[in-house]
Amino acid sequence: MTVPLLTLKGIRKSFSGKPVLQGIDLDVYQGDSLVILGGSGAGKSVLMRHLIGLMQPDEGYVLFKGANMADMTSSEVYETRRHFGMSFQEGALFDSLNVFENIAFPIRRHRRHWSLAKITARVQECLEMVGMPNVAKLMPSELSGGMRRRVGFARSIALEPDILLFDEPTTGLDPVMTSVLNDVIISLRTQLNATSITITHDMSSARAIATRLAMLFQGQLVFEADRDAFFETDHAIVRQFVEGNATGPLTEALMK
Ligand SMILES: Nc1ncnc2c1ncn2[C@@H]1O[C@H](COP(=O)(O)OP(=O)(O)OP(=O)(O)O)[C@@H](O)[C@H]1O
Ligand SMILES: [Mg+2]
Repeated sequence: MTVPLLTLKGIRKSFSGKPVLQGIDLDVYQGDSLVILGGSGAGKSVLMRHLIGLMQPDEGYVLFKGANMADMTSSEVYETRRHFGMSFQEGALFDSLNVFENIAFPIRRHRRHWSLAKITARVQECLEMVGMPNVAKLMPSELSGGMRRRVGFARSIALEPDILLFDEPTTGLDPVMTSVLNDVIISLRTQLNATSITITHDMSSARAIATRLAMLFQGQLVFEADRDAFFETDHAIVRQFVEGNATGPLTEALMK
């Protein structure tokens, strides 16, 4: 039996008594391109922070290759985190550093013995992988939204992660830039031979990149399936979300 790369079991998380995650169970396997769908404020970013150990659950646990992250020593957690490349919502670049220094930042921190020439070569390689070979000297303020996201991707792959996490990679971008970023995500997965987990409410993005999907609703993953089965299901919540219908269980829940 194959051990999942990541397992979430019974994850619960509340903030000031307000439940956000209410029992999340999930297995992610090597090679999956998992897309987690959910409405605004559904807890998608909170769920992603649990995956990478940036937030601790109130209840439940996260296993990385079968090992409980809560039982790891801090050096083991540090080592585990290196497998993950996280692209935060909105890019989250350091505004005072140019593109080169943004991407070099994790390299300088984790590869202390690397020469400047080696760092420069790696930064350039990362920029080429996201289709932006000529922006190293620019400041984040000089980039468009789509370019900032791609620089964020480039920074997230600097340490050659094998698990890529994308939090709303295309939200707020026009349809063309959304397609460009979908293609970049697919090509990064292939080039790094990586597993990916993407959180989004953008259906075009979900259709383009997913091999498997899960729907987050009221703190639980209410439906999970391989790509084709997901888009063809009769599950009322999934149907309403996928079709963007004004009436259905999602809107009924809002009225309560
Ligand atoms: N650190 C925190 N402290 C308190 N409340 C938080 C914290 N992080 C998230 N929340 C709350 O948890 C809920 C879910 O937030 P989250 O950011 O995960 O939503 P989301 O699904 O990512 O939404 P969006 O699509 O708008 O990005 C929100 O009500 C938010 O206010
Ligand atoms: Mg979010």
